[in-house]
Amino acid sequence: MTSPLGKDLLGLEFLSSEQIRLILDTAEPFKEISERAIKKVPALRGSTIVNLFFENSTRTRISFEFAEKRLSADTVNVSSSGSSVAKGETLVDTARNLEAMRIDMVVIRHGASGAASFLAERIESNVINAGDGTHEHPTQGLLDLLTLRDHLGDLKGKRVCICGDVLHSRVARSNIWGLQKVGAEVAVCGPRSLLPNSIEEFGVTVFKRIEEAIEWADALNVLRLQLERMTAGYIPSSREYNRVFGVSRERLNRAKRKILILHPGPMNRGVEIDSDVADGPHSVILNQVTNGVAVRMAVLYLLAGGKPELAEAAKGGNR
Ligand code: CP
Repeated sequence: MTSPLGKDLLGLEFLSSEQIRLILDTAEPFKEISERAIKKVPALRGSTIVNLFFENSTRTRISFEFAEKRLSADTVNVSSSGSSVAKGETLVDTARNLEAMRIDMVVIRHGASGAASFLAERIESNVINAGDGTHEHPTQGLLDLLTLRDHLGDLKGKRVCICGDVLHSRVARSNIWGLQKVGAEVAVCGPRSLLPNSIEEFGVTVFKRIEEAIEWADALNVLRLQLERMTAGYIPSSREYNRVFGVSRERLNRAKRKILILHPGPMNRGVEIDSDVADGPHSVILNQVTNGVAVRMAVLYLLAGGKPELAEAAKGGNR
């Protein structure tokens, strides 16, 4: 069956605005399934999906697994420790062996940028990128768009600033491409050492001060400082970073209008975001997590050849 998304979901850079809207619209009817007592519909019954997580994950891995199970797919989880990857087996050999067992889809998280497309070119199963190095994290970008749309309506002309460690962030790239495609204005804010040299080529506004970003934006997507990817001294200290770029209640109180706060997680509380902001009235961080399941259900359903107009009907039963 052909999918309106093509064979794989590797990133938002090469999706059209229509394909992005289609995924968000398909996610809408799937939201309700997670609110039911019996959270299961038969849409992917008989499909086998392998979740290959070669990097740590809480939100993405668990929400993909929930999405798969709620659509009645059979799922298998593979991580590098405990599999033959730990004995030196290559990514492609691992995937080909899984394919030999007749699987339908692979969800992959990998530390290397490009790992998902490398795999997609070599296997016939559908491949979904669940985060590859510093390249893209498309389902995170999509769930961020859905959460913003829930709260701000049509995103055309809305102003979203991505704050913090843009240099190491696959979430930033997926957000920039996704937001621009649905007509939002996008800015970034952070220390120059944590912005890519070519950031202006992305067509974004660059703010040097967090106060300017807060004054400009309808929403801030606050990124985690990825200390584990920092091979050099990018910032003097976490404390100094918080003092200059931290999103605090005091700073938000000076905003002229209500501003939404997103964070992809996991958060460094007291570094890029203060706890009273993360848990406060501006925050939609847990709404992002809830929407992650619906967005991933929509992606799985569409890649499996599900008809968007039948997503409502696919929900049938088990109310
Ligand atoms: N946002 C995100 O990717 O979180 P995890 O690393 O926990 O999956």
